[in-house]
Amino acid sequence: MRIELPKETERLGAVLIHGIQKVFELESGLETDLERPGNGLMIQRMPYEAENEIEKRMAIVIPMRNERIKLVEGVLTGIPNQCLTFIVSNSSRSPVDRFAIEKDAFERFARFTSKQIVLVHQKDPCLAEACRAAGYTAILDEKDGLIKSGKAEGMILAKLLVSLSGCRYIGFIDADNYFPGSVLEYVREYAAGFFIGKSNYIMVRISWHSKPKIIDDGLFFAKWGRTSRQTNHFLNMFIAAYTGFETDIIKTGNAGEHAMTMDLALTLDYSSGYSIEPNHFINIFERFGGLGGKSLSEEIIEKHVQIFQIESRNPHLHNVGKGEGHVEEMTCGAFQVISQSPLCPENIKKKLQQEIAVMQQEFPNSVKPVDYYPSLSGINETAFMEAIREQPYADVIQKCYKRKI
Ligand code: GDD
Ligand code: MG
Repeated sequence: MRIELPKETERLGAVLIHGIQKVFELESGLETDLERPGNGLMIQRMPYEAENEIEKRMAIVIPMRNERIKLVEGVLTGIPNQCLTFIVSNSSRSPVDRFAIEKDAFERFARFTSKQIVLVHQKDPCLAEACRAAGYTAILDEKDGLIKSGKAEGMILAKLLVSLSGCRYIGFIDADNYFPGSVLEYVREYAAGFFIGKSNYIMVRISWHSKPKIIDDGLFFAKWGRTSRQTNHFLNMFIAAYTGFETDIIKTGNAGEHAMTMDLALTLDYSSGYSIEPNHFINIFERFGGLGGKSLSEEIIEKHVQIFQIESRNPHLHNVGKGEGHVEEMTCGAFQVISQSPLCPENIKKKLQQEIAVMQQEFPNSVKPVDYYPSLSGINETAFMEAIREQPYADVIQKCYKRKI
């Protein structure tokens, strides 16, 4: 891959937010290939070997709920064989056991490709028990004792499992993506961020080049959706309130496609459902921004948290039409985590609260309060591993776990 280096960077304490980076080549050859002179200083080449080395240490997580299997098979096709793949499904089990059908299809896929796939169901009682044994009960539902529904809750469970596997990096890719080629591109862009980054705390967020839509019988390549436009706007206002300079640095407030080092993944606190991605920014500002009189540890100041935003080249086409109130649920989740931060400036908070109140009135069933979950640092991994030892999905993790200890 050949990628532009960040042209601008905003700094908030120990947090470096890099501006959008464009991709110039999806594949730029091998380490031994000679570079012609005149290669711009602002462009970084990531040889294939380097990419491959990073991907061997990267887990890719696919969160899914009731998606069409053909779509998910396409996503699996795009994930390089060297990445350990985790599928966290929250698909329904009755009246039709959709998970059983998924299991059959993905196991077959894994056999054909020799791909290492760990498939779990979010409502597996054994996983809830393992969370309990590990001392991480925040994501458990008080009513049934199982892991709560929600995309974030599935992702947090995945982080736990990936941590056991000893992978250094974790990347997320939605299951409802129509283009396997774009999936492969996202993985390469995650690797490029880790290749360029100079810290143990790195996050890579994808800004979709475009989202094709059919308008008046023709194709229109839209760049921004309603939710991301607004989330980016308020996050940028948040930063400007502290730096004193208006900015448009954040372009990936809602990025579902994102990756991070496991060091960072285990450090962050999380929030529920679709609010998890905008909350990454807020939580990073709260913990590493040095704001509100909070002093930072020397280790953090030295290392920085680096946030890369990479613009993908493939159009992003996913399953649209996820029901009434879906967009509002996502927008409202983002507004809640921004406005509820103790660091949120009063004027922004007021504006967001007004917007939330309007959405709550219009979509009372979709717009719910956000839950917050503590970080995964300090959980008892040995107890978690012990609790899932007999499960079929523990096999692959266990092999990797042994390598870890
Ligand atoms: N495990 C699990 N559990 N997965 C879930 C759940 C759940 O309860 N709910 C949804 N998912 C899966 C979906 O099947 C899909 O693969 C992925 O999470 C994203 O959900 P969508 O419902 O398709 O969301 P979207 O496409 O509207 O929004 C996506 O893009 C936004 C903008 O980048 C999401 O990734 C958002 O989080 C993101 O902000
Ligand atoms: Mg989607």
